[in-house]
Amino acid sequence: MDTNQFKWPVSSEREMELLRHVIESERWGGYHEFVGRLEREFAAFAHCTHGVSAMNGTVTMEMALWAAGVGPGDEVIVPAISFVATAMVVSRVGALPVFVDIDPRSFNMDPERAAAAITPRTKAIIAVHFGGAMAEMDRLLPLAGEHGLALIEDAAHAHGAEWQGRRAGSLGLAGSFSFQNSKVMTAGEGGMLTTNDAAFAERAWSIMDQGRKPGGGWFFHYVPGSNYRITGLQAAVLLAQFERLPEQICRRTRNAALLRAELSDVEGLAFQALPKPQNANSWYLLLGRIDGQRMGRTRDEFHSELTASGVPCTPFYPHPLYGNPLYRQGGCRVEPCPVAEECVKDAFWLPHRALLGDEETTREVAAAMRRACGG
Ligand SMILES: Cc1ncc(COP(=O)(O)O)c(C=O)c1O
Repeated sequence: MDTNQFKWPVSSEREMELLRHVIESERWGGYHEFVGRLEREFAAFAHCTHGVSAMNGTVTMEMALWAAGVGPGDEVIVPAISFVATAMVVSRVGALPVFVDIDPRSFNMDPERAAAAITPRTKAIIAVHFGGAMAEMDRLLPLAGEHGLALIEDAAHAHGAEWQGRRAGSLGLAGSFSFQNSKVMTAGEGGMLTTNDAAFAERAWSIMDQGRKPGGGWFFHYVPGSNYRITGLQAAVLLAQFERLPEQICRRTRNAALLRAELSDVEGLAFQALPKPQNANSWYLLLGRIDGQRMGRTRDEFHSELTASGVPCTPFYPHPLYGNPLYRQGGCRVEPCPVAEECVKDAFWLPHRALLGDEETTREVAAAMRRACGG
């Protein structure tokens, strides 16, 4: 197997060319023209009118909560399965994360569990599009609307994913994207908040840029923001990465379909269910679950054999988010999460780089997966 095809990040002379522009300018920081260009182009790509970039996808989500007015005394509903940032930003603004269970097939927040967790203190829901498969927006949007809640999309995995033609990041009040090293476009670190709400975008921008107002004076500060700006150097790399994104999404989509079809007969292997209204996926992760009883192998045996064959694979998170030391002492509310408890024992993912190979390599990945399943 040609594992060089799984190399990530990928770059070319284009990154160097755009970086040179910045290096040769006198503005290496957040006010280089590339930063504004990236915000405009990425926002348009996400079907949004506004983009506010920041250092990473954790602070963009924190900015979203501040800009939505979430603070001490408020509760925010989050899925029990995600990267810790989804919950930690809630704690950072002084609110209480409320962990709810996920759907056993999609790995995304179960909307019924979210509805059951709403109290008079609930201010927002953070819906994660896990691995690129979008959360049940047809149920979460009306739920948020009925209860007057801000629906924030944690789209860190979902660049280019579409729900009935509407891109991730444009359905809720805001979408938060990550450009961290493993993400489908990267500058090592970076983040972007997208929204169609001009007033919200202005508040988020102020928080990101020292409490200034867009177009206002340099030494005039209106809110206690911070300096979360990305640099022109990051924007240069991201503009180059962005040019490659559509082709890479096509390649991953083709390879994910091939892998799922090749392995559809494997007893005890279930891939992530994709919601019907979703018409495009970023394929950040190829997720699945192992039914050890039916397969006669544990998830950990599957994982060890697959990685030994050169295919990158992660045996899921070691615990639901509330199992982290940070939340074991409290500072959160935990709703019953039997599905999340099961998934940490039997689920796995392949990173998107495993989907970037050519057809021959992808068939070899399928064969290695079949062998790891005992076939
Ligand atoms: C679901 C999810 N949300 C948020 C983040 C945070 O992004 P960043 O690493 O850019 O801060 C990540 C990063 O891995 C993530 O996976």
